[in-house]
Amino acid sequence: MNGNMIVKNASELVTCSGFTAKKGKDMADLHIIPDGAVVVKQGLIDAVLTTPEIEAILEKSCEDLSTFDIIDARNKAVMPGFVDSHTHFIFGGYRAEEFSWRLRGESYMDIMKRGGGIVNTVEATRRASANELLQSGIKRLDSMLSFGVTTVEGKSGYGLDKDTEIKQLEVINHLDGIHYIDIVPTFLGAHAVPQDFSDRTDEFVAHMMQEVMPQVAERKLAEYCDVFCEKNVFSVKQSRRLLSWARDLGMNIKLHADEIVQLGGAELAAELKATSADHLLQASDEGIRQMAQAGVVATLLPATAFSLKEPYARGRFIIDNDCAVALASDFNPGSCFSESIPLIFALATLYMNITTEEAVTALTINAAAALDRADRIGSIDTGKQGDLVVLEYPSYKFIPYHVGVNSVEKVIKKGNLVFDKEKGGIKFC
Ligand code: NIG
Ligand code: FE
Repeated sequence: MNGNMIVKNASELVTCSGFTAKKGKDMADLHIIPDGAVVVKQGLIDAVLTTPEIEAILEKSCEDLSTFDIIDARNKAVMPGFVDSHTHFIFGGYRAEEFSWRLRGESYMDIMKRGGGIVNTVEATRRASANELLQSGIKRLDSMLSFGVTTVEGKSGYGLDKDTEIKQLEVINHLDGIHYIDIVPTFLGAHAVPQDFSDRTDEFVAHMMQEVMPQVAERKLAEYCDVFCEKNVFSVKQSRRLLSWARDLGMNIKLHADEIVQLGGAELAAELKATSADHLLQASDEGIRQMAQAGVVATLLPATAFSLKEPYARGRFIIDNDCAVALASDFNPGSCFSESIPLIFALATLYMNITTEEAVTALTINAAAALDRADRIGSIDTGKQGDLVVLEYPSYKFIPYHVGVNSVEKVIKKGNLVFDKEKGGIKFC
C-alpha cells in the first residue's frame, strides 16, 4: 500500500479533465483517451497519456517498476472515482414502516407533521452510542466503495441538540481517518424543529447559532453548514440568518432548497453564493438563472424524487441555463434509503434528460466542485489524487445501459487497490 500504481491498456480512459465545475456544453466533453494509461506515484497522479506513450516514458526512466502495482485494463473503461456530494449516512434506526405508509399514499410532509420522518430518526440517533453509529457507518461506506465512490459528504442533522449533533460529527470525522473513502463533514443542525422547540422555530435557530455552531466551528468538526429551507421547516429568512452566521464562523455553505415547495431557496443560494443548492425540484427559472450567474452548483438527487414519487428536478433546463449540475445519492433513512450509483445514472439519463456524458461529469468533477475540491479530485489529471474506478465493460456508456446494476470492477484509492470484484468483492486492508 505505497500508493504506486500503473493502470494501462484502458479501452477508454475517461479523464473528465478539468479543475473547476463544468457548465453547459462543457459538461458533455469527457476528454477520453483511447488505449489510455495512468501512473500514480505515492497517491498522486503523475502521468496521463496513451499506453504506448507511457510505456516509452517508463522504459527511458530509471523508475523502479517493482514498487508499482500494475493493472491491465484491456477492454475496460477507467474513470475518476465517483464523488457522492450529498448524504446523511450516519443515523440510528430505520424507517421501513414509514416507507410502507408512503406506498399507501401518505405524503412525506404529512408523516413529518405527525412526528414521524426526521424526528423519528432523531430519537433513534440520540439513543445510539457513538460506537454503534461508527459500526453502521463503516458498513454503509463499504457499500458505497463497492459502487466506486471514493469521496463522500456526510451530514449531521439527526441530533437537533448539541450533544447528538456533535456526536454525529465526531463519528463522521473519525470515519474519515479510518476508512478508505474520504469524508467531508457537514453540520445540518437545522434539519427539522425538535419537539421541545415546536412552534418556536426562531428560538431553535437562535439556540443552534449561539449554543452549537460556535463549538462546531471552533473544533473544526464541519466544513459546511447546511439547512433544510422548506415550507413548514425553516424559512428563507431563518435560513439566511443561520447560513450567514455559519460563514462568519468560517464554514462554507449549502442548502436543501426548493424540494417540496417553491420557497426561494435557489435565489437565497445565489444571494449567499453558496457552494451548492441541493434538490431544486421546484426551483424557479429565475432562481436557476441567478444560481448560474453566482456560480452555485445545482446538486440534483434523482433517487430521492423517485423514492418520494415527486417530479424530477429539471436537469435539462438547468444545464441549458449554464448552471453546473452535480448528481448525488442523498442516502438517508427516510426520503432515499439508497446509496446506489447505478440507480442515479438510470434516473438521470432516462427521466431527467441528462446525457450519459453529462451524468458522468455530474458525479465526478462537478460533484468535486460541489465540495470545493475540483482542484484535487473528480478527474484524472496530473497532480490530483489517484482515485480511480475500473469498469468491467469497455465503455462508460455501459453504466446506464446495464440498468440498475453495478458495473464497477475495481476501485483504486490514492494509488492503492482497495476493492476488487474479481476477487469476490473483497476489500483489502
Ligand atoms: O435530503 N429533506 C430533508 N432531508 C433529507 C431527508 C432526511 C430524512 O427523511 O431523514 C433529504 O431528503
Ligand atoms: Fe438531503
